[in-house]
Amino acid sequence: MIIGGSASQALASEVAKELNDKLCTVETRKFPDGERYFRIKDNIPCDEKVCVIQSTGYPQDENMMELFFILDTLSDMGVEEITVISPYLGYSRQERRFKDYECISAKATSRLIQSMNVKSLISVNLHEESICDLYDIPVYNLSAMPAIADYISKMGFDDKPVILAPDKGAQNFAKEIAEILDTDYDYLEKVRLSPEVVETKTKNISVDDRAVVIIDDIISTGGTIVNAIEILKNQGATSVNVFCVHPVLVNDAVLKINAAGADTLKATNTLNNEVAVISIAKTLADKIRQL
Ligand code: R5P
Repeated sequence: MIIGGSASQALASEVAKELNDKLCTVETRKFPDGERYFRIKDNIPCDEKVCVIQSTGYPQDENMMELFFILDTLSDMGVEEITVISPYLGYSRQERRFKDYECISAKATSRLIQSMNVKSLISVNLHEESICDLYDIPVYNLSAMPAIADYISKMGFDDKPVILAPDKGAQNFAKEIAEILDTDYDYLEKVRLSPEVVETKTKNISVDDRAVVIIDDIISTGGTIVNAIEILKNQGATSVNVFCVHPVLVNDAVLKINAAGADTLKATNTLNNEVAVISIAKTLADKIRQL
């Protein structure tokens, strides 16, 4: 049985459809003072395997709290086999201590989730693979790159685009997509030309007269992507098409990216957003089938 929290109801419906599984009906709302109310409206037999789908992006605390309410309710109902699917797992960006006595919020979150009778966790392109080590239960960190590559392959580029990571940390995403699409990939690198002058350019490939696809895991403020678009346009790219897994897109990020000259801006539906048009329902469903 699939349960969709309020942050991921459309995605949960799609996953249930893919699996031909029952989608549980729930009631979720807020009290006048802002506190959250949650109720499961169907009977769930104790031996039923239940997948709770809830991304925990903005508003993170509310969505996380609702996830705990769902898990606690399932425990009270005696459900023994619970899998949490949090395609965008909030608080993953603080997975270690950068300064003394900081809260490692990814660890605090992992403790809370695990305390709630959860058997396994599925997420998509976790910010750091090391987040899996914060859990004692199995964590499946799925890749959205095949779904994104599939979308790109249907865009009808005249010539194969260069797949480009905006920094070295994202080059494996570019590599994965490039291998699926049988094209080349690269990443942007900062080169210090003199003590005062830093130039950012592609590491190995010229983008002159070529269509470029930029891929990153997260776009938040859009600063990284705006910088990349400006560099690639200056270097002669014929079009710059931006893709990401998690469209966090705070404030005016969409506007900034479009104003910088992006020809496309698309993302997966790990988070609900106007640019979230690439569904990861099949990616999730395929994993659920294997559990
Ligand atoms: C960094 O590690 C991530 O992969 C993204 O590049 C980063 O989160 C993007 O942030 P922003 O959109 O604020 O530049």
